[in-house]
Amino acid sequence: MADQYAQSGEAVRPSDVAAMPAIPAIRWDEPPEGPVLVLLDQTRLPAEETELVCTDPPALVQAIRTLAVRGAPLLGIAGAYGVALAAARGFDVDEAADALAGARPTAVNLAYGARRAQAAYRKAVAGGADEQQAAAAVLATARALHKEDAEASARMAVHGLALLDELMPGGRPRVLTHCNTGALVSGGEGTAFAVALAAHREGRLRRLWVDETRPLLQGARLTAYEAARAGMPYTLLTDNAAGSLFAAGEVDAVLIGADRIAADGSVANKVGSYPLAVLARYHHVPFIVVAPVTTVDPDTPDGAAIEVEQRASHEVTEVTVPFVPVTGAEVGGGISVAPLGTQAYNPAFDVTPPELVTAVVTEEGVVSPVTTEGLAELCARSRQV
Ligand code: MRU
Repeated sequence: MADQYAQSGEAVRPSDVAAMPAIPAIRWDEPPEGPVLVLLDQTRLPAEETELVCTDPPALVQAIRTLAVRGAPLLGIAGAYGVALAAARGFDVDEAADALAGARPTAVNLAYGARRAQAAYRKAVAGGADEQQAAAAVLATARALHKEDAEASARMAVHGLALLDELMPGGRPRVLTHCNTGALVSGGEGTAFAVALAAHREGRLRRLWVDETRPLLQGARLTAYEAARAGMPYTLLTDNAAGSLFAAGEVDAVLIGADRIAADGSVANKVGSYPLAVLARYHHVPFIVVAPVTTVDPDTPDGAAIEVEQRASHEVTEVTVPFVPVTGAEVGGGISVAPLGTQAYNPAFDVTPPELVTAVVTEEGVVSPVTTEGLAELCARSRQV
């Protein structure tokens, strides 16, 4: 079966890849008109690489809700820069931090980033800083978080690759991934995708199976885009095809990211992750979660306590071309693929219980088996650094 797919990764010609500009997922800029946060608009990918310029916190909140900027670690970075933008532009910082932290409920990193930046502002003001100095302190915090995330990403790749080696000594795994976890969600090269990329660079990735990730197609639009840019051997599949792929013995490991990991090790990630965990267990395939320590939330005791974002029906009932999700409306303005008025069940995430997770890989190391104690020890270690 593998041979029939051998062409897929080579479908992107080197010239195509070189032609793609490398726009960072997020950057702070200070043009003469005042500071702005510039996002690579992920709703337009892969058709267009367009920048979205946010001049105020409400614009950033909207960008977060429409998934122009998305993915747990990047949401944390965006939250922090959003508070920096509020401070630099004279907005009410506490109000902005609340709006940003609550823009999407599941990824714990978003609130973490916004609240950390807010705390930096309050500390500066309490220490006698004027508005300008306080704004500079918040920006420094956002930049620090951005840098920390890039470093965490590199360390996760090292730990993840070592784990793959341990599980499959000398092997060239075929890795299945879901949603998007690369440089588009991170200050660095990402989480799960960074591990696959590290394996690829060492010539040890046999294939990256990319789930399309309905309904917003983060796999097809974004992971395939990143895999193509990196020249990785990848093949796209519909989410429904994963079962037959496992049954055919074509998957050696599942690597996914996380939006929130509860204290007991329950993992919230893009909807469709849980069925993959069940499949992986049935087929004796390791199911590996890669996430920075900031995604572990000791304040959320278990999976039942994780708030799962529910999104609009039209993301399922309509198809938009070019792909631009519309939020906050009854209809999205796309082409209906279901009878008018159809309501859809559209959770953005699902929760995988810890007993189905082989390992959680973080920048601080690997937790396996996944236990409350193991995760608590990891968080404590991280706080000491
Ligand atoms: O709705 P999204 O696109 O923000 O969801 C993103 C995911 O579910 C990712 O898998 C998760 O954030 C991990 S990214 C390191």
